[in-house]
Amino acid sequence: MQTDAGIADAPIKIESFLAPGDERSLADDVLDGLTRPFKELPPKHFYDTRGAELFDRICDLPEYYPTRAERAILREQAQRIAALTGAGELVELGSGTAAKTRVLLDALHSHGSLRRYVPIDVTEAMVRDCAADLVGEYPGLQVHGVIGDFERHLDGVPEPLAGGSRLIAFLGGTIGNFPPGSRRRFLRQIASLLRPQDHLLMGTDLVKDPEVLEAAYDDSAGVTAEFNRNVLHVLNRELDADFDPAAFEHVALFDRQHEWIEMRLRSQREQTVSVKALALSVHFEQGEEMRTEISAKFTRGRVQDDLAAAGLELTHWLTDPDGLFALTLSQPLEGR
Ligand code: AVJ
Repeated sequence: MQTDAGIADAPIKIESFLAPGDERSLADDVLDGLTRPFKELPPKHFYDTRGAELFDRICDLPEYYPTRAERAILREQAQRIAALTGAGELVELGSGTAAKTRVLLDALHSHGSLRRYVPIDVTEAMVRDCAADLVGEYPGLQVHGVIGDFERHLDGVPEPLAGGSRLIAFLGGTIGNFPPGSRRRFLRQIASLLRPQDHLLMGTDLVKDPEVLEAAYDDSAGVTAEFNRNVLHVLNRELDADFDPAAFEHVALFDRQHEWIEMRLRSQREQTVSVKALALSVHFEQGEEMRTEISAKFTRGRVQDDLAAAGLELTHWLTDPDGLFALTLSQPLEGR
């Protein structure tokens, strides 16, 4: 771990938990995922610079409603969230550019409780830039940035400030990327960072008409298709692989049994790809599909059960007028 040296009460502190090249555990994940009978790559590897840009474009697409719906709920409910939580500290998992966060920070600031913001993200530049911007925007705010993968480095989140409560925000519906088993395990890890007076604010996309869901993940402009194929560019660059992204077709379908969107890449022809950094050669049949993402869609009952399994009690269910998306406030169950 590296810590920036600093004066004891400097407003910005940044800690990194990443070894060089270890941003996203890529090599292990690729070796594990591409040697399985049903090939699979975890979705976190979409997000290099180009992937993050493509995701930003997805958020503006007419078909992709989750970002707009979540922002509308936040705008509508931020004051209430501030009053309900009285949080002095906001911890954000996967903070990115902290665009949505400002709505929450504004509300906590005008409520008079805001003291510290703790963003955690794998992209070092994002954490540093947003820390610098935010201490300028909110006088007296401390920022303690954690550069790390929230799946692996949650223990890098600092001890809570004494005499105040903490709000952990996990927005965007990213919890839906976890398969059900590890979803609850991850929620338990989050819960271990919460004291009885603390809260979790989590965003989840909701079950709806499959046509609406599938359009959101297979837009007419083809941006999501490019985003999906971007993971192959990442493997080519980072692991010296020779994927031809044009030889893979974007597939997005709603699995009605599991109630999740599944994105896949379908090999257009029989081909063998070499991943030189892993001394791995990977064969694809014509039409063979590789899973690149699941994005689970929730009902209130499912969110409640998942939280309960992690020792958390759902206290507030906040949704948009069309019921597309939900933000959930929860707190540690008594005597968990
Ligand atoms: C960032 C995980 C919430 O699942 O909707 C968008 C990623 N994938 N379009 C989602 C994504 C395809 C997004 N999350």
